[in-house]
Amino acid sequence: MSQRKGKTIFSAVQPSGDITIGNYFGAVKNWTQLQSDFNCIFALADLHALTIRKDAEEFKQKTLEAYALLLACGIDLKKSLFFIQSQVNTHCQLAWMLACHTGFGELARMTQFKDKSNSHSGNVNCGLFSYPVLMLSDILLYRADFVPVGQDQKQHLELTRTVTERFNFLYGPTFTVPEPYIKSGAKIKSLKDPTKKMSKSDPDLNSRIELLDSPDEIVNKVKRAVTDSESHVKYGANKDGLNNLMTIYSCTTGKTFDEIEKEFDGKGYGEFKSAVAEALIEHLAPIQNRFSEIIKDKGYIEKCYKDSAEEALNISNETLNEVKKKIGFIL
Ligand code: TRP
Repeated sequence: MSQRKGKTIFSAVQPSGDITIGNYFGAVKNWTQLQSDFNCIFALADLHALTIRKDAEEFKQKTLEAYALLLACGIDLKKSLFFIQSQVNTHCQLAWMLACHTGFGELARMTQFKDKSNSHSGNVNCGLFSYPVLMLSDILLYRADFVPVGQDQKQHLELTRTVTERFNFLYGPTFTVPEPYIKSGAKIKSLKDPTKKMSKSDPDLNSRIELLDSPDEIVNKVKRAVTDSESHVKYGANKDGLNNLMTIYSCTTGKTFDEIEKEFDGKGYGEFKSAVAEALIEHLAPIQNRFSEIIKDKGYIEKCYKDSAEEALNISNETLNEVKKKIGFIL
C-alpha cells in the first residue's frame, strides 16, 4: 500500500459463496473507486464466515478464489491493503477485549442475529451472537473514519459507534468513532423474487448471477428472470422484476433509465432481456479474464496476501498495544 491518503476506509466481505453481481455493483465496484481518494483497507472476513459450518477443503478453496476474484475486480495493492482476516491475529484479541465492553442485551437486539438464529436454528453458536464484536474490532484496529455498509450492516455499525464511545469515555480518547459511508452502489435484487436482495446464499441458483458465470448461464438466468405481464420497458411501480433488469442494464452500460426506455421503445421484454444478458457478458469478460490469469499463479496470490497480512499486523498492533496499555495489561 502506498503512503496514507488522509481519511481511512475499512470494509470487508465474507468469502462464503460466490461473489454475485449484487455484491459487485452494490459494494466491490464502489470500493475500487474509493481507492484513489482514501486510505483503503479491505479484508476477506473468513473468521466471520465460520459462524456457518464449513467443509475445510472447500472453505480454503473458496477463500483463495474470493481473494483472487476481488483482485481481478480491481482492488489494487499499490493503493490499498487487502488481507485475509484470520491471518492477522490482532482481530481476535481485540474482539475479546471489546466483548467485555459490549452488553449481552445490546447483542441480543441485533436483527441479523435474530434472523440468522431462525434461519440456522440447528447451529446458533456463540460466534453468531458475538459476530458484531469481531466486526467492530476489524474497524477499530485500523482507526477507520468511514465504513461503506449496506442496509443489513447498519445496525452493526451503530453498535460499533456506541461501544467505541463507551471505550473512549472509560479509558480516554483511543479510537476514531467510525461513520457509515453513505454513497452506496446499486441495489441488485434476486432474479426470482425481485422484492428481496440478490443473495449468494439463496438456494436457488437462478436467483443470482455470479461473477464467474459463463455466457450461457448468464443468458439462461436472465431469460428466466421474473418480470410482469406488461411488455413496455418502462420503470414503474409494481414492476420490481423489470426495474431490477433495468438497474442491471444501467450498471453494465452506464445508460440512464430514460436512455434505456428510449432504446427499447416499441420493443418487448424478450429483446430487452437479450440485451441485458449481452451487456453483462461483455462487462464481466475482463474480470473473468483477469481472474483466470491470477488464479493460475498461486505464488503471486500468496505473496499478495502474506505481504498484506504483515502490513495489517503492523498497523493493527499499534492500536492493540495502546488498548492493552489503557486497560492495564502488563506489556
Ligand atoms: N459482516 C460483514 C458482512 O457479512 C463483513 C464484515 C466483517 C464487515 N467485518 C466488517 C463489513 C467490518 C464492514 C466492516 O457482509
